[in-house]
Amino acid sequence: MKLRTLGKSGLQVSEIGLGCWQLGNDFGTIEDERANQILAAADDNGINFWDTADVYGGGKSETRIASHKSEHSSNRLIATKVGRDGALYPDGYTKDRVKSNIEGSLKRLDVDAIDLIQLHCVPTEVLMAGDLLAWMEDFQKDGLIKEFGVSVETLEEALFAVTHPKLTSIQTIFNIFRQDHITELFPKAIEHDVGIIVRLPLASGVLSGKFKTDQQFEEGDHRNYNKDGAFFSVGETFSGIPFDKAVAFADQLKAWTPEGYSLAQMSMRWLLDQPAVSTVITGASRPSQVAENASVSDLASLSPELHKKLSKFYFESVKEHIRGVM
Ligand SMILES: NC(=O)c1ccc[n+]([C@@H]2O[C@H](COP(=O)([O-])OP(=O)(O)OC[C@H]3O[C@@H](n4cnc5c(N)ncnc54)[C@H](OP(=O)(O)O)[C@@H]3O)[C@@H](O)[C@H]2O)c1
Repeated sequence: MKLRTLGKSGLQVSEIGLGCWQLGNDFGTIEDERANQILAAADDNGINFWDTADVYGGGKSETRIASHKSEHSSNRLIATKVGRDGALYPDGYTKDRVKSNIEGSLKRLDVDAIDLIQLHCVPTEVLMAGDLLAWMEDFQKDGLIKEFGVSVETLEEALFAVTHPKLTSIQTIFNIFRQDHITELFPKAIEHDVGIIVRLPLASGVLSGKFKTDQQFEEGDHRNYNKDGAFFSVGETFSGIPFDKAVAFADQLKAWTPEGYSLAQMSMRWLLDQPAVSTVITGASRPSQVAENASVSDLASLSPELHKKLSKFYFESVKEHIRGVM
């Protein structure tokens, strides 16, 4: 597993990280045994960057991470998030409440300081008011957190945050179905030495090419209850593309995979071929997926011709179908 530097923090993060939202059982049910196998597979495959949030399963994801002790525990970098808990979101943000939520994460993660805290898709106007970022600087001085970043929904939010002098990272949706960041955000991220953490690399799994249009998801899976944005941002689940369309696009891409690459691998390699990307936090529901995803770090880059074809595919066919503000 190759490592990249996460922005100005100097932290060395694995090119493929682990998204841990599913460990909160917000994606259907993952039993304890399976959760431990997924985390063990991440350790075994050199994945040292794990992304979670205080609200994933009401803290379950963080607790599971902390209780998974191994010889690799001390090398892990755990990124968590604050800002979507009901006590705060959408307009209850005070310094004391935010601090208290971070202290909750400290306890659940069983650490003295958070490696990286990310503002968790807080409303645009709250982010831009600047208080939250100023509090993060204070919490950093107090030793509560080591680094801070933002997880955003829109380009506007990312472009606002990227110039902040102390910001370590921006977590954002970026994948073959969502390519716009290459033009505007990424050059600025490089200029300001801000790391890019890619979420939804597989557009909620659809970019693995395994789904048919009649796929059923569990009742508690956001790919069921939020497929058209009924519960949170419509741009999040399946990257904002209507499911039937997303499946058809993924089927089209299958013919373009280089020999020996699965569609999931091609999709993640495309991400790692972007120099601004620091780490790709793919989620996984089973350990075999973790291993397949980790292997992408060692695969050869895609050819310039394939990059060109995928860019044309996005701008000419996919982009018009994205719902929600990008
Ligand atoms: N607002 C935010 O800050 C925010 C929002 C969303 C996500 N995130 C973070 O980003 C992470 C990744 O997002 P995500 O999990 O929603 O999307 P994703 O990484 O695009 O999709 C992950 C899902 O795809 C399937 N999958 C993974 N690897 C596979 C493979 N090799 N072959 C076939 N299927 C595979 C698994 O689901 P199945 O096997 O069940 O199909 C897995 O749970 C989250 O875990 C979380 O840490 C943050």
